[in-house]
Amino acid sequence: MIMKKRVFSGSRPTGRLHLGNYLGGLKGYLALQERQDLDCIYSIVDLHGITTPYDPKTYQKQIREVALDYLSVGLDPKKCHLMVQSQVPEHVQLAYLLATIFPVSRMEQLPTYKDKKKENPDYVNVGLFYYPILMAADILLYKAEVVPVGKDQVPHIEVTREIARKFNSMFGQVFPEPQAYLTPGAYVPSLKSEGKMSKSAEGSYILLTDNLQTIKARLAGAPTDTGRGEKVPVMGGVANLLALVELFEGKEARKKLEGQYAGNGIRYGELKERLAEAIYQELQPIQIRRKKFEEKPKLVAEILEEGKQYCSQIARQTLDQVRRAMGLV
Ligand code: TYM
Repeated sequence: MIMKKRVFSGSRPTGRLHLGNYLGGLKGYLALQERQDLDCIYSIVDLHGITTPYDPKTYQKQIREVALDYLSVGLDPKKCHLMVQSQVPEHVQLAYLLATIFPVSRMEQLPTYKDKKKENPDYVNVGLFYYPILMAADILLYKAEVVPVGKDQVPHIEVTREIARKFNSMFGQVFPEPQAYLTPGAYVPSLKSEGKMSKSAEGSYILLTDNLQTIKARLAGAPTDTGRGEKVPVMGGVANLLALVELFEGKEARKKLEGQYAGNGIRYGELKERLAEAIYQELQPIQIRRKKFEEKPKLVAEILEEGKQYCSQIARQTLDQVRRAMGLV
């Protein structure tokens, strides 16, 4: 029997998923689930989601929303396993064991920790600091070799590789070194002028569940300029809009607009109208599929239960191997 390489990735249930999650994360999940040589596990990482402010009363609902987002974009339980991170407690157990071999100084340098500290200065908890270790544990627990993520997560994959190397050198070969898998949309910019599209930045995103009217309204808020000039901006609102045009309408459409910028000028009203249509065209079938799954909560629960069972048996094996290697058994 040929051993399949394993794939692992996850998304936090901190709100409904947006175009950044879709293009940077889910598109990669979808491409990899089609490959016969890969065994894919996609998680809803609820333990990561509680490191920033959240409402425990609605948290289970938010977890279900991400499960629905996963299924509606076309993740297929016949081709991959879907699971909720906290339902397999070995994630936390392995994270603790890995934490004992990783230097604090290295963690402090990580961009996500610094960003989140800035975003929520009153909520800088130890869990947030520990975040990359738990993420490494998520991946290494399944000995995953391929991790589809957006660009923002690449530093975390690097940490995971470092941890795997260090563990192997201290306790003997147990873990492979995973590689990030990036899609063409690995960095989706914010609709505002700065940074990436993000759930935590109001006005920066378009949700997978947005209708055409909402998409138009959100795009209307994206900053622009006079529409013409010698050089097409490489940063800011216009650059971000052009990046979205390329992602949804293709390179040619972008080139044409760049030509207009240097010539008669871009008409942003028209650009936004067309872009909204192109985005909606991609989202509409996803939204139709979502409705079907919304009507079948039992099926969704069964899919997550299968994922839990499948992952639990792999997790137990890895943890047993790690405990032995570390002299805990
Ligand atoms: P999260 O929940 O922030 O995002 C889920 C996925 O969406 C991608 N993404 C983006 N890609 C392109 N452009 C954007 N603007 C954008 N915004 C988000 C993210 O890169 C990610 O792939 N730490 C992770 C979750 C995690 C994980 C893991 C991922 C926990 N354990 C193990 C992989 C493997 C996170 O916060 O993703």
